[in-house]
Amino acid sequence: VRKIFVIGIGAGNPDHVTMQAVHALNAVDVFFLLDKREDTDALVRLRRDICERYITDPSYRFVQAQDPARDRDAASYQAGVEAWHAERAALYETMIRTELGEDECGGFLVWGDPSLYDSTLRIIDRIAARGALAFTVEVIPGITSVQALAASHRIVLNRIGGAVHITTGRRLAAGLPDANDVIVMLDGQCAFKTVAPDDWDIYWGAYLGTPAEIIVSGRLRDVAEDIERTRTAAREAHGWIMDTYLLRRSRPG
Ligand SMILES: C[S@@+](CC[C@H](N)C(=O)[O-])C[C@H]1O[C@@H](n2cnc3c(N)ncnc32)[C@H](O)[C@@H]1O
Repeated sequence: VRKIFVIGIGAGNPDHVTMQAVHALNAVDVFFLLDKREDTDALVRLRRDICERYITDPSYRFVQAQDPARDRDAASYQAGVEAWHAERAALYETMIRTELGEDECGGFLVWGDPSLYDSTLRIIDRIAARGALAFTVEVIPGITSVQALAASHRIVLNRIGGAVHITTGRRLAAGLPDANDVIVMLDGQCAFKTVAPDDWDIYWGAYLGTPAEIIVSGRLRDVAEDIERTRTAAREAHGWIMDTYLLRRSRPG
């Protein structure tokens, strides 16, 4: 029966790849790569570089497909994502059926870790639930951008015995969660500007784990403008940006 590995490859540094991932990479016959619209050449290249660096037998192959476009005019955000996942599931199912032999292993290389803001596992579950194709699934954890952020700033994410809230820029802009320590991902709009600058510290990082890494930390009032300026300039220089940050309430409530 076919086997699918979903492999977390870390957040941008090839050294993030774990030994467990190296073993899985070496077991894969076919890597499925999707050209996502939001992926840049740099991100696609890193996946190929990781394979070249860690796989000893070069007989593996890549199957590349164009990611279906998400309908950003859909009735709701949820409806748009739902339709997009259905299309992706159909595409993945066809790729697995046509490109992977009955006894072969397929691999999906997932940025960071598959458990965090990534749809690969949901889509694979969807294919399994349809029941038209038999396969087993193994997930290999990877280093998330959240861990890379904490390591670069040399910080613990939680206060002693405290909770950590992980959210998106979109959600933060819609309203502050009831939390003292908030990790924000997927924020193209600098949503940190919507919170009270005197009440929060920020630990911000872009291109974490890569040679281009930039980190800034301090009282939000003091560094917010600097982060926004740095972010805009870096995105222009590289053509893309990925950034993550921790907002930490200065006086926990
Ligand atoms: C689609 S999510 C994927 C998260 C990924 N699965 C993980 O474990 O980190 C993409 C978001 O992750 C964050 N991210 C991923 N890699 C990053 C990096 N190298 N530096 C900073 N943020 C990163 C950014 O917030 C970006 O918008």
